Amino acid sequence: MKLSVPGRATGAAVIAVAALLTTSAIADAAPARVAAAPDIPVANVKAHLTQLQSIATANGGNRAHGRAGYKASLDYVKAKLDAAGFTTTIQQFTSSGRIGYNLIADWPGGDANQIVMAGSHLDSVSSGAGINDNGTGSAAVLEAALAVSRTQYQPTKHLRFAWWGAEELGLVGSRHYVNNLSAADRDKISGYLNFDMIGSPNPGYFVYDDDPAIEKTFKDFYAGLGVATEIETEGDGRSDHAPFKSAGIPVGGLFTGASNTKSTAQATKWGGTAGQPFDRCYHSSCDTTANINDTALNRNSDALAYAVWELSE
Ligand code: TRP
Ligand code: ZN
Repeated sequence: MKLSVPGRATGAAVIAVAALLTTSAIADAAPARVAAAPDIPVANVKAHLTQLQSIATANGGNRAHGRAGYKASLDYVKAKLDAAGFTTTIQQFTSSGRIGYNLIADWPGGDANQIVMAGSHLDSVSSGAGINDNGTGSAAVLEAALAVSRTQYQPTKHLRFAWWGAEELGLVGSRHYVNNLSAADRDKISGYLNFDMIGSPNPGYFVYDDDPAIEKTFKDFYAGLGVATEIETEGDGRSDHAPFKSAGIPVGGLFTGASNTKSTAQATKWGGTAGQPFDRCYHSSCDTTANINDTALNRNSDALAYAVWELSE
């Protein structure tokens, strides 16, 4: 859904400004950037959430590691990416005696020595469908990847998208991926962007305080919306960026809050309900498609695309 962001002038605004300028001034005013990030349709992101909910409902109510709902989720995401022209790879691992899977999708082209990655965990806990945790991140990363294909974006850097297995068992899939990179391959990753819980029903707008350039990119986006952000502190290192960070790879990400309580000050600046958790259904059976704040999901999906575009050009 369209949000107003600096540097993304509307057609009408461009015409209005152009009318005031001479031809040479228009040339001087040509934007330095060739590729503006697209607006991510939140309806598309929500359609993926509906599919993940159906997958959980058809598979015992969850999409957990080692269960049929996880593999069905992986197959759903992979089919979309394959149809869009990505090169997909399934990486298998074993955890708690069950097979798990990561899904990696490479967009052909760009400098193989400068890789920008965006990822999210695709598994849920066994007690529920995991639609906010982490259908939201998974669906938004998927939709950003599909937007890369729709626009046939050809950035300077190489783009890689990832969906991790067994995060809920202790960051197992992402750690497996990082541990299996050679030192040379680790050095090629310019940055890893993580999206875990980005549509909490009583949302906060939290930006990871890790790599300064990545953090600034997200903050710039939110400044353009006029929405305040705070540094993410709810259990730092509790998601899939942690193995990347430990390996010395620059990381960043977004988060709308889990079981922590929204303060009065936070409710004043963000709306929602003070004294209540950001996500009252965190890790429980009510984490369904009803457990989503559409505004937060829309903003964070657009912020994700903005960062992928800005950091890869
Ligand atoms: N990763 C946790 C989960 O999936 C949720 C979580 C807690 C989190 N603290 C975080 C996610 C900070 C991102 C950032 O259950
Ligand atoms: Zn999670």
